[in-house]
Amino acid sequence: MARLIVVLADLQIPWHDPNYIRLMEYFIKERQPDEVGQIGDFYDSPGVGRWNKSSAGEYRHNFRKDKLKGLEIIERLRIQWIQYGNHDLRFEKYIRDYAPAIDSFLDDEIRFEKVFGLEDAGVELKREPWSIARGWMIAHGHEHGRISPVSGSTAYSLAQKLDRNVMIGHTHRAGIRQSTTGGKFGIPLRTLTGIEIGHGMKLSAAGYMNAPPNWQQAFGYLYVDGQNVQAGFVPINGGSFFFEGRVWRLPKGASDDPAPAA
Ligand SMILES: [Fe+2]
Ligand SMILES: [Fe+2]
Repeated sequence: MARLIVVLADLQIPWHDPNYIRLMEYFIKERQPDEVGQIGDFYDSPGVGRWNKSSAGEYRHNFRKDKLKGLEIIERLRIQWIQYGNHDLRFEKYIRDYAPAIDSFLDDEIRFEKVFGLEDAGVELKREPWSIARGWMIAHGHEHGRISPVSGSTAYSLAQKLDRNVMIGHTHRAGIRQSTTGGKFGIPLRTLTGIEIGHGMKLSAAGYMNAPPNWQQAFGYLYVDGQNVQAGFVPINGGSFFFEGRVWRLPKGASDDPAPAA
């Protein structure tokens, strides 16, 4: 049977959607995928964002509380790796930019993985785009610079740049864009695919946007059977989604509270 890898979308803790967390927790517990990753922007890191520099926002935020929430979510969702998103890297950038006297500690003692407990939790931080399966790369999506408002297009541009199929987060949109070339003069057919896997945020938290966000809630998946790979995204609407011929929604009476730690 093919291996199933589930890839969780941008969570931007503390602006994550608790309903997304609950639904994915239920799905992961029931379906038992072989691997679970998260596409980056695990944390929003508002306090160390450059927009908040020297404003009240720099002081208001409790980053340690976010860390503890993140560790709880890692355990509940069985996350094994996290892609390093542009919001996650704000923490180290803040030290480099505003506390350069101690930035040599970033080589070890105050690396993001250490401070946020990822190493202790056995979670691998992927600092660069990487190959997850034959022909497929995982990236956060900020690596290429420009963002398209059309779902799938940002991922497709990065796919062209890397010359690989890619799955990304970052845009908070869910979509797929492909092109197929070859098929003539002995050139084999080849399809290049870019997939964006949406977001897992509470939309009311996106108050910093001027317009209603053009985003979709979703998650990504890959089936890997040796050399054969099939990847896609699953839209979540009204607290439920279809996957493998089944409707997935929280069972009636499911507790609103986080599952007690085992
Ligand atoms: Fe991002
Ligand atoms: Fe993001």
